[in-house]
Amino acid sequence: MAPRESTAWLETRLGSIHHDDSLNVMARCKDASIEMILTSPPFALTRKKDYGNEQEDAYLEWFRSFAVEFHRILKDDGSLVIDLGGAWKPGIPVRSLYHFKLLIMLCEEYDFQLAQEFYWWNPSKLPTPAEWVNIRRIRVKDAVNTVWWLAKSSWPRASNWRVLQPYSDSMRDLLAHGYKAKLRPSGHDISEKFSKDNGAAIPPNLIAVPNTESNSRYLRYCAENDIPAHPARFPASLPEYFIRLATDPGDIVLDPFAGSCVTGEVAERLERKWICAEVNEEYLLGAKVRFDSKDTVDGGAKRPKKPRDSYYRIPHPGLLWDEKPTESLPEDGGRSRPAHLRRET
Ligand SMILES: C[S@@+](CC[C@H](N)C(=O)[O-])C[C@H]1O[C@@H](n2cnc3c(N)ncnc32)[C@H](O)[C@@H]1O
Repeated sequence: MAPRESTAWLETRLGSIHHDDSLNVMARCKDASIEMILTSPPFALTRKKDYGNEQEDAYLEWFRSFAVEFHRILKDDGSLVIDLGGAWKPGIPVRSLYHFKLLIMLCEEYDFQLAQEFYWWNPSKLPTPAEWVNIRRIRVKDAVNTVWWLAKSSWPRASNWRVLQPYSDSMRDLLAHGYKAKLRPSGHDISEKFSKDNGAAIPPNLIAVPNTESNSRYLRYCAENDIPAHPARFPASLPEYFIRLATDPGDIVLDPFAGSCVTGEVAERLERKWICAEVNEEYLLGAKVRFDSKDTVDGGAKRPKKPRDSYYRIPHPGLLWDEKPTESLPEDGGRSRPAHLRRET
Protein backbone atom coordinates (compact mmCIF):
# COMPACT_ATOMS: atom_id res chain seq x y z
CA MET A 1 0.00 0.00 0.00
CA ALA A 2 1.21 3.54 -0.82
CA PRO A 3 2.89 5.63 0.44
CA ARG A 4 6.08 3.56 0.58
CA GLU A 5 7.52 4.92 3.86
CA SER A 6 5.40 5.34 6.91
CA THR A 7 5.44 8.87 8.30
CA ALA A 8 1.90 8.62 9.52
CA TRP A 9 0.52 11.02 12.11
CA LEU A 10 -2.21 8.47 12.80
CA GLU A 11 -2.78 4.95 11.52
CA THR A 12 -6.00 2.94 11.54
CA ARG A 13 -6.92 -0.54 10.36
CA LEU A 14 -7.29 0.67 6.77
CA GLY A 15 -5.72 4.07 6.49
CA SER A 16 -3.29 6.72 7.58
CA ILE A 17 -3.25 10.46 8.19
CA HIS A 18 -0.09 12.35 7.22
CA HIS A 19 0.68 15.74 8.70
CA ASP A 20 2.59 16.94 5.69
CA ASP A 21 2.38 18.73 2.38
CA SER A 22 0.53 16.29 0.15
CA LEU A 23 3.22 16.74 -2.52
CA ASN A 24 5.62 14.98 -0.13
CA VAL A 25 3.09 12.27 0.64
CA MET A 26 2.38 11.68 -3.05
CA ALA A 27 6.10 11.67 -3.86
CA ARG A 28 6.30 8.48 -1.78
CA CYS A 29 3.44 6.80 -3.71
CA LYS A 30 4.23 4.43 -6.56
CA ASP A 31 3.14 5.19 -10.11
CA ALA A 32 -0.43 4.09 -10.91
CA SER A 33 -1.07 2.85 -7.36
CA ILE A 34 -4.23 4.74 -6.29
CA GLU A 35 -7.79 3.95 -7.36
CA MET A 36 -9.35 7.28 -6.35
CA ILE A 37 -8.14 10.77 -5.49
CA LEU A 38 -11.06 12.60 -3.93
CA THR A 39 -10.63 16.08 -2.55
CA SER A 40 -11.73 19.63 -2.01
CA PRO A 41 -8.69 21.85 -2.53
CA PRO A 42 -8.37 25.23 -0.89
CA PHE A 43 -9.21 28.31 -2.86
CA ALA A 44 -8.69 31.79 -1.57
CA LEU A 45 -9.40 34.94 -3.47
CA THR A 46 -7.76 37.38 -1.17
CA ARG A 47 -6.34 40.22 -3.23
CA LYS A 48 -8.68 42.98 -4.21
CA LYS A 49 -8.54 43.58 -7.92
CA ASP A 50 -11.23 45.00 -10.16
CA TYR A 51 -10.05 43.55 -13.46
CA GLY A 52 -7.80 40.95 -15.01
CA ASN A 53 -7.45 37.31 -14.07
CA GLU A 54 -4.22 37.18 -12.17
CA GLN A 55 -5.74 35.34 -9.20
CA GLU A 56 -7.11 32.64 -11.47
CA ASP A 57 -3.75 32.28 -13.18
CA ALA A 58 -1.90 32.12 -9.85
CA TYR A 59 -4.29 29.39 -8.73
CA LEU A 60 -3.66 27.36 -11.87
CA GLU A 61 0.11 27.73 -11.45
CA TRP A 62 -0.14 26.56 -7.83
CA PHE A 63 -2.19 23.53 -8.93
CA ARG A 64 0.25 22.35 -11.62
CA SER A 65 2.56 20.35 -9.36
CA PHE A 66 -0.48 18.58 -7.85
CA ALA A 67 -1.83 17.81 -11.34
CA VAL A 68 1.45 16.11 -12.29
CA GLU A 69 1.42 13.93 -9.18
CA PHE A 70 -2.31 13.12 -9.46
CA HIS A 71 -1.73 11.86 -12.98
CA ARG A 72 1.34 9.87 -12.01
CA ILE A 73 -0.11 8.03 -9.00
CA LEU A 74 -3.66 7.43 -10.25
CA LYS A 75 -4.41 4.01 -11.77
CA ASP A 76 -5.32 4.02 -15.45
CA ASP A 77 -8.93 3.10 -14.64
CA GLY A 78 -9.07 5.23 -11.47
CA SER A 79 -10.96 8.45 -10.75
CA LEU A 80 -9.96 11.96 -9.70
CA VAL A 81 -12.86 13.78 -8.02
CA ILE A 82 -12.41 17.49 -7.26
CA ASP A 83 -15.00 19.53 -5.39
CA LEU A 84 -14.66 23.27 -5.97
CA GLY A 85 -16.81 26.08 -4.68
CA GLY A 86 -17.24 29.01 -7.02
CA ALA A 87 -15.95 32.43 -6.01
CA TRP A 88 -16.81 36.06 -6.53
CA LYS A 89 -14.14 38.44 -7.68
CA PRO A 90 -13.32 40.76 -4.78
CA GLY A 91 -15.22 44.04 -4.80
CA ILE A 92 -17.33 43.41 -7.90
CA PRO A 93 -20.44 41.30 -8.57
CA VAL A 94 -18.61 39.08 -11.05
CA ARG A 95 -17.71 35.41 -10.76
CA SER A 96 -14.24 33.99 -10.97
CA LEU A 97 -13.63 31.47 -13.74
CA TYR A 98 -10.95 29.58 -11.83
CA HIS A 99 -12.79 26.27 -11.48
CA PHE A 100 -13.65 26.12 -15.18
CA LYS A 101 -10.10 27.09 -16.12
CA LEU A 102 -8.75 24.39 -13.82
CA LEU A 103 -10.97 21.79 -15.48
CA ILE A 104 -9.79 22.84 -18.94
CA MET A 105 -6.16 22.89 -17.82
CA LEU A 106 -6.41 19.38 -16.33
CA CYS A 107 -7.99 18.01 -19.50
CA GLU A 108 -6.02 19.88 -22.13
CA GLU A 109 -2.58 19.99 -20.50
CA TYR A 110 -2.52 16.99 -18.14
CA ASP A 111 -4.40 14.48 -20.24
CA PHE A 112 -7.34 13.92 -17.90
CA GLN A 113 -10.78 13.12 -19.33
CA LEU A 114 -13.96 14.61 -17.92
CA ALA A 115 -15.97 11.50 -17.02
CA GLN A 116 -18.81 13.72 -15.86
CA GLU A 117 -19.42 17.07 -14.24
CA PHE A 118 -21.51 17.11 -11.08
CA TYR A 119 -23.20 19.94 -9.22
CA TRP A 120 -23.47 19.70 -5.46
CA TRP A 121 -26.47 21.75 -4.37
CA ASN A 122 -26.17 22.77 -0.73
CA PRO A 123 -29.65 24.08 0.14
CA SER A 124 -28.36 25.47 3.44
CA LYS A 125 -25.78 27.81 1.88
CA LEU A 126 -26.04 31.38 3.08
CA PRO A 127 -26.86 34.09 0.55
CA THR A 128 -23.45 35.73 0.21
CA PRO A 129 -21.92 38.17 -0.55
CA ALA A 130 -24.70 40.03 1.29
CA GLU A 131 -23.88 43.26 -0.58
CA TRP A 132 -24.85 41.81 -3.98
CA VAL A 133 -27.50 39.34 -2.90
CA ASN A 134 -29.32 40.80 0.12
CA ILE A 135 -28.64 44.52 -0.06
CA ARG A 136 -28.40 45.61 -3.69
CA ARG A 137 -30.33 42.50 -4.84
CA ILE A 138 -28.52 42.32 -8.15
CA ARG A 139 -27.44 38.65 -7.91
CA VAL A 140 -29.05 35.48 -6.50
CA LYS A 141 -27.89 32.95 -3.94
CA ASP A 142 -24.87 30.90 -5.00
CA ALA A 143 -25.71 27.40 -3.75
CA VAL A 144 -23.87 24.91 -5.95
CA ASN A 145 -20.32 23.63 -6.00
CA THR A 146 -18.93 22.01 -9.09
CA VAL A 147 -17.54 18.51 -8.68
CA TRP A 148 -15.31 17.45 -11.58
CA TRP A 149 -15.12 13.68 -12.00
CA LEU A 150 -11.98 13.11 -14.06
CA ALA A 151 -10.06 10.04 -15.17
CA LYS A 152 -6.90 9.09 -17.01
CA SER A 153 -8.85 6.95 -19.45
CA SER A 154 -12.29 7.24 -21.03
CA TRP A 155 -13.36 4.18 -19.07
CA PRO A 156 -12.82 4.63 -15.30
CA ARG A 157 -14.34 1.78 -13.29
CA ALA A 158 -17.79 2.83 -12.09
CA SER A 159 -21.33 1.58 -11.61
CA ASN A 160 -24.40 3.71 -11.07
CA TRP A 161 -26.11 0.67 -9.51
CA ARG A 162 -24.22 1.68 -6.34
CA VAL A 163 -25.85 5.10 -6.08
CA LEU A 164 -29.47 4.52 -7.06
CA GLN A 165 -32.20 6.65 -5.53
CA PRO A 166 -35.82 5.88 -4.68
CA TYR A 167 -38.27 6.72 -7.44
CA SER A 168 -39.94 10.11 -7.19
CA ASP A 169 -43.71 10.25 -6.58
CA SER A 170 -44.37 11.09 -10.23
CA MET A 171 -42.22 8.18 -11.45
CA ARG A 172 -43.99 5.81 -9.05
CA ASP A 173 -47.29 7.06 -10.41
CA LEU A 174 -46.10 6.51 -13.95
CA LEU A 175 -44.97 2.97 -13.17
CA ALA A 176 -48.30 2.22 -11.51
CA HIS A 177 -50.45 3.60 -14.32
CA GLY A 178 -48.27 2.83 -17.30
CA TYR A 179 -46.51 5.04 -19.80
CA LYS A 180 -47.73 5.49 -23.36
CA ALA A 181 -44.77 5.14 -25.71
CA LYS A 182 -44.44 8.27 -27.86
CA LEU A 183 -42.03 10.63 -29.53
CA ARG A 184 -41.20 13.51 -27.19
CA PRO A 185 -41.07 17.13 -28.49
CA SER A 186 -37.29 16.91 -27.95
CA GLY A 187 -37.17 14.13 -30.57
CA HIS A 188 -36.47 11.37 -28.03
CA ASP A 189 -38.40 8.22 -28.76
CA ILE A 190 -39.60 7.01 -25.36
CA SER A 191 -40.36 3.31 -25.59
CA GLU A 192 -42.49 1.06 -23.38
CA LYS A 193 -39.22 0.00 -21.66
CA PHE A 194 -39.27 3.36 -19.90
CA SER A 195 -42.08 2.11 -17.66
CA LYS A 196 -40.13 -0.94 -16.46
CA ASP A 197 -39.81 -0.93 -12.69
CA ASN A 198 -36.11 -1.38 -11.92
CA GLY A 199 -36.69 -0.89 -8.21
CA ALA A 200 -34.90 2.44 -8.03
CA ALA A 201 -33.97 5.46 -10.11
CA ILE A 202 -30.68 6.41 -11.73
CA PRO A 203 -29.64 9.66 -10.05
CA PRO A 204 -28.94 12.86 -11.94
CA ASN A 205 -25.61 14.68 -11.78
CA LEU A 206 -27.11 17.11 -9.27
CA ILE A 207 -26.35 16.02 -5.72
CA ALA A 208 -28.53 17.65 -3.06
CA VAL A 209 -26.91 17.57 0.39
CA PRO A 210 -27.24 20.30 3.00
CA ASN A 211 -24.13 21.09 4.98
CA THR A 212 -25.86 21.56 8.30
CA GLU A 213 -23.85 19.45 10.71
CA SER A 214 -24.36 21.06 14.13
CA ASN A 215 -24.28 18.42 16.84
CA SER A 216 -21.95 15.68 15.60
CA ARG A 217 -19.42 13.89 17.76
CA TYR A 218 -16.70 15.68 15.74
CA LEU A 219 -18.07 19.12 16.61
CA ARG A 220 -18.69 18.23 20.26
CA TYR A 221 -15.15 16.85 20.54
CA CYS A 222 -13.69 20.04 19.01
CA ALA A 223 -15.76 22.25 21.35
CA GLU A 224 -14.92 20.20 24.46
CA ASN A 225 -11.20 20.22 23.66
CA ASP A 226 -10.93 23.79 22.44
CA ILE A 227 -9.86 22.64 18.98
CA PRO A 228 -10.91 24.70 15.95
CA ALA A 229 -13.48 22.82 13.86
CA HIS A 230 -12.57 22.82 10.18
CA PRO A 231 -14.60 25.57 8.51
CA ALA A 232 -15.10 23.82 5.14
CA ARG A 233 -15.94 20.21 5.91
CA PHE A 234 -17.52 17.78 3.45
CA PRO A 235 -20.94 16.46 4.37
CA ALA A 236 -20.08 12.75 4.59
CA SER A 237 -22.54 11.73 1.88
CA LEU A 238 -20.58 13.65 -0.76
CA PRO A 239 -17.36 11.59 -0.58
CA GLU A 240 -19.50 8.52 0.12
CA TYR A 241 -21.35 8.97 -3.17
CA PHE A 242 -18.18 8.94 -5.26
CA ILE A 243 -16.40 6.26 -3.24
CA ARG A 244 -19.38 3.96 -3.73
CA LEU A 245 -19.78 4.92 -7.40
CA ALA A 246 -16.21 4.34 -8.50
CA THR A 247 -14.26 2.17 -6.03
CA ASP A 248 -14.51 -1.32 -4.58
CA PRO A 249 -13.74 -2.42 -1.01
CA GLY A 250 -9.98 -2.76 -0.67
CA ASP A 251 -9.24 0.03 -3.18
CA ILE A 252 -7.16 3.02 -2.06
CA VAL A 253 -8.71 6.49 -1.72
CA LEU A 254 -6.39 9.49 -1.27
CA ASP A 255 -7.47 12.94 -0.06
CA PRO A 256 -4.49 15.30 -0.58
CA PHE A 257 -6.26 18.30 1.05
CA ALA A 258 -7.88 16.35 3.82
CA GLY A 259 -8.86 18.99 6.38
CA SER A 260 -10.85 17.16 9.05
CA CYS A 261 -10.48 13.81 7.20
CA VAL A 262 -14.14 13.17 6.41
CA THR A 263 -12.89 11.27 3.34
CA GLY A 264 -10.81 8.97 5.54
CA GLU A 265 -13.68 8.34 7.91
CA VAL A 266 -16.06 7.43 5.10
CA ALA A 267 -13.46 5.25 3.36
CA GLU A 268 -12.75 3.35 6.59
CA ARG A 269 -16.47 2.72 7.12
CA LEU A 270 -16.82 1.49 3.52
CA GLU A 271 -13.83 -0.88 3.87
CA ARG A 272 -11.61 1.06 1.46
CA LYS A 273 -7.98 1.74 2.25
CA TRP A 274 -7.23 5.44 2.51
CA ILE A 275 -4.55 8.13 2.84
CA CYS A 276 -5.22 11.65 4.09
CA ALA A 277 -2.67 14.49 3.91
CA GLU A 278 -3.16 17.78 5.72
CA VAL A 279 -0.62 20.55 6.36
CA ASN A 280 -2.41 22.19 9.25
CA GLU A 281 -2.06 20.06 12.38
CA GLU A 282 -4.82 21.97 14.19
CA TYR A 283 -7.33 20.35 11.84
CA LEU A 284 -5.95 16.90 12.52
CA LEU A 285 -6.44 17.25 16.28
CA GLY A 286 -10.19 17.24 15.67
CA ALA A 287 -10.02 14.67 12.85
CA LYS A 288 -8.59 12.13 15.33
CA VAL A 289 -11.99 11.56 16.96
CA ARG A 290 -13.37 10.23 13.68
CA PHE A 291 -11.24 7.13 14.17
CA ASP A 292 -11.63 6.64 17.91
CA SER A 293 -14.37 4.04 17.67
CA LYS A 294 -16.32 2.07 15.14
CA ASP A 295 -19.33 4.40 15.41
CA THR A 296 -19.65 6.78 12.52
CA VAL A 297 -19.14 10.38 13.50
CA ASP A 298 -20.93 12.14 10.65
CA GLY A 299 -21.57 9.52 8.00
CA GLY A 300 -24.53 7.52 9.18
CA ALA A 301 -26.35 10.23 11.07
CA LYS A 302 -27.37 12.28 8.06
CA ARG A 303 -29.26 9.59 6.18
CA PRO A 304 -32.91 10.51 5.55
CA LYS A 305 -35.23 8.12 7.38
CA LYS A 306 -37.87 7.71 4.68
CA PRO A 307 -37.36 7.62 0.92
CA ARG A 308 -39.66 10.64 0.50
CA ASP A 309 -37.43 12.76 2.75
CA SER A 310 -34.64 12.24 0.29
CA TYR A 311 -36.15 14.55 -2.33
CA TYR A 312 -35.33 18.22 -2.04
CA ARG A 313 -37.82 20.29 -3.90
CA ILE A 314 -36.96 23.44 -5.78
CA PRO A 315 -39.97 25.67 -6.40
CA HIS A 316 -40.67 26.15 -10.08
CA PRO A 317 -39.49 29.67 -10.98
CA GLY A 318 -42.95 30.97 -11.97
CA LEU A 319 -44.80 30.57 -8.67
CA LEU A 320 -44.75 34.24 -7.68
CA TRP A 321 -44.61 35.87 -11.09
CA ASP A 322 -47.49 38.16 -11.99
CA GLU A 323 -48.18 41.10 -14.26
CA LYS A 324 -48.10 43.77 -11.54
CA PRO A 325 -45.73 46.67 -12.33
CA THR A 326 -42.30 46.38 -10.75
CA GLU A 327 -39.65 48.99 -10.01
CA SER A 328 -37.37 49.70 -12.96
CA LEU A 329 -34.01 47.97 -12.97
CA PRO A 330 -31.15 50.01 -11.50
CA GLU A 331 -29.80 52.22 -14.31
CA ASP A 332 -26.22 51.71 -13.16
CA GLY A 333 -26.51 47.91 -12.77
CA GLY A 334 -26.32 48.27 -8.98
CA ARG A 335 -22.98 50.11 -8.99
CA SER A 336 -24.30 52.45 -6.29
CA ARG A 337 -26.43 51.30 -3.37
CA PRO A 338 -30.15 52.02 -3.58
CA ALA A 339 -30.92 55.56 -2.25
CA HIS A 340 -32.76 54.32 0.88
CA LEU A 341 -29.64 52.31 1.90
CA ARG A 342 -26.95 54.87 1.17
CA ARG A 343 -26.71 56.26 4.68
CA GLU A 344 -26.07 52.74 6.04
CA THR A 345 -22.67 52.38 4.34
C1 LIG B 1 -11.23 22.88 1.67
S1 LIG B 1 -10.22 22.20 2.90
C2 LIG B 1 -10.68 20.52 2.89
C3 LIG B 1 -11.73 20.15 3.90
C4 LIG B 1 -12.07 18.68 3.92
N1 LIG B 1 -12.70 18.25 2.68
C5 LIG B 1 -12.96 18.29 5.09
O1 LIG B 1 -14.02 17.70 4.87
O2 LIG B 1 -12.64 18.61 6.24
C6 LIG B 1 -8.62 22.21 2.21
C7 LIG B 1 -7.51 21.80 3.15
O3 LIG B 1 -6.29 21.64 2.42
C8 LIG B 1 -5.21 21.91 3.31
N2 LIG B 1 -4.01 22.11 2.47
C9 LIG B 1 -3.68 23.17 1.71
N3 LIG B 1 -2.53 22.94 1.01
C10 LIG B 1 -2.13 21.69 1.35
C11 LIG B 1 -1.03 20.86 0.96
N4 LIG B 1 -0.12 21.28 0.09
N5 LIG B 1 -0.95 19.62 1.49
C12 LIG B 1 -1.87 19.17 2.39
N6 LIG B 1 -2.93 19.91 2.80
C13 LIG B 1 -3.07 21.15 2.28
C14 LIG B 1 -5.71 23.14 4.07
O4 LIG B 1 -5.02 23.29 5.30
C15 LIG B 1 -7.20 22.81 4.26
O5 LIG B 1 -7.45 22.22 5.50
